[in-house]
Amino acid sequence: MQVKKAVFPVAGLGTRFLPATKASPKEMLPLIDKPLVQYVVEEAVAAGIEQILFVTGRGKRAIEDHFDISFELEALLQEKGKNDTLREVRDIAEMVNIFYVRQKQAMGLGHAILCAREFVGNEPFAVLLGDDIIDAEKPCLGQLLDVYRKYRGPVLALEKVPMENISSYGCVRANGITDRIFEVTDLVEKPKREEAPSDMAIIGRYVLTPEIFPILERQEPGKGGEIQLTDALLKLSKDEAIYGCLFEGIRHDCGDKLGFLKATVDMALKREEFNTEFEEYLRERLCRRQD
Ligand code: G1P
Repeated sequence: MQVKKAVFPVAGLGTRFLPATKASPKEMLPLIDKPLVQYVVEEAVAAGIEQILFVTGRGKRAIEDHFDISFELEALLQEKGKNDTLREVRDIAEMVNIFYVRQKQAMGLGHAILCAREFVGNEPFAVLLGDDIIDAEKPCLGQLLDVYRKYRGPVLALEKVPMENISSYGCVRANGITDRIFEVTDLVEKPKREEAPSDMAIIGRYVLTPEIFPILERQEPGKGGEIQLTDALLKLSKDEAIYGCLFEGIRHDCGDKLGFLKATVDMALKREEFNTEFEEYLRERLCRRQD
């Protein structure tokens, strides 16, 4: 069965990025000139997703406005003859069908996914977390979908991270099927470094099947008192095979200030309209610091 639906949990409070996220959603922080969430929506669309559900919460209206038609803005751009910008702005609203549901309480990622149950129905679906911006030739979700099509089971995006950072992630133990594809045999949410089963971290892209819902429904709170998707996946892995994919591409943790800064520099160096000048500027600043 084709994967046409994706769930975007966006109810998080963005505490790692305060004070910028005090009154505006972290998903709307701009990487150069596009909000983070737009990069992730574009990744989903490029992978063939046709319907997106935002699991949203209080203070997230800017996301809805961003993907809606802005009548006044479009009229103004038309009047001024700014046709390229008009097209760009309109495309955002026409890119994909978007649905919204509110997660009334911040009870964790697993709980957010459970809020998508009716939208998902009885189909496989994707989950994309907006903090992880993945710069890849083939969209990361597309890489996961290739694995799903071949192995017909849930697939998690994996990345090897330095052991001193492993406690920031869900961590897996996994057996290699190929050099990039694994069968996951154990999962732990944000383990202590000495208890981590490996250096392989779960990154914010998943292909899941509806079998996860009855497990999530009964899932007890785990790490941080939250209903954890990782814990539910561990239970599911006892009954059916779960796969991991070491994706190709560069991942930026944009929910973190330093990660966001690195992503901005990286993306700016790729933008033809100003990359030469920006690179010169960076070089000059670095030279001055060394003096
Ligand atoms: C969530 C997941 C975690 C995963 C991470 C990837 O954690 O619970 O397993 O490794 O996303 O970004 P969060 O960063 O939302 O706390």
